[in-house]
Amino acid sequence: MDSVLNIAHRGASGYCPENTIAAFERSIELGADAIETDVQMTKDGHLVLIHDESLKRTTGSAQWVQHITLEQLKALDAGSWFDRSFHGERVPTLEELFEIAKRHPVQLNLELKNGVVLYPGIEEAVIRAIRQYGLSDRIIISSFNHYSLVECKRLAPEIRTGALYMEGLYQPWEYAQRIGADALHPFHYAVMPEWVKEAKARGIAYHPFTVNDPEQMKRLIDAGVAGMITDYPDRLAALLLNKEA
Ligand code: G3P
Ligand code: MG
Repeated sequence: MDSVLNIAHRGASGYCPENTIAAFERSIELGADAIETDVQMTKDGHLVLIHDESLKRTTGSAQWVQHITLEQLKALDAGSWFDRSFHGERVPTLEELFEIAKRHPVQLNLELKNGVVLYPGIEEAVIRAIRQYGLSDRIIISSFNHYSLVECKRLAPEIRTGALYMEGLYQPWEYAQRIGADALHPFHYAVMPEWVKEAKARGIAYHPFTVNDPEQMKRLIDAGVAGMITDYPDRLAALLLNKEA
């Protein structure tokens, strides 16, 4: 069996508040090979890791990420909504995640949230930071905004990209080739073994999201996916250990 990349969705978000340092570190402890996270930009141009464009759900603030400064964002508690024991967790910057990557050989899947809110220049800013930290070969940039992916590939052909989509894309391996993407990141129900094979034959990897049910994990491992994105990296790690044994 080829190795399957165990990608922790927003960190170990089944156990910790998503997109926090606690979630990232826990995912590594639980056996993740890679961390998926969502990248947005503050009003003063800092790259920060948070899923929603609004701060309401995870911090309680009525503001939006695009309208506040990093200093204001850092004053917010991004842990208590999940469990009081995480009180004091903050919305991390991309650099804080890169510091973790300096200590652990983990790969990173940076999802550019460049859709509901458009962040002009986010591609260039992310690539600059990746290169500063010398992490180009450990990154996959993904996005539902495929214009962003094409722009990333133009700016940095050496960095892998993955096209996020929900379902029903016809012969997505051809589409991936057209936009220069290295991987397909579909919603996991919409993945058939024969498609994985077709993509693989063209050097295109499948990394479906978000797979939490061990039965679905098994189905996708058997289909030959190159990796999958999960809230529970421990579940996938246990399955992969079993398969190897
Ligand atoms: O990258 C996979 C997954 O994170 C995409 O959807 O909404 O969880 O960011 P979302
Ligand atoms: Mg995401």
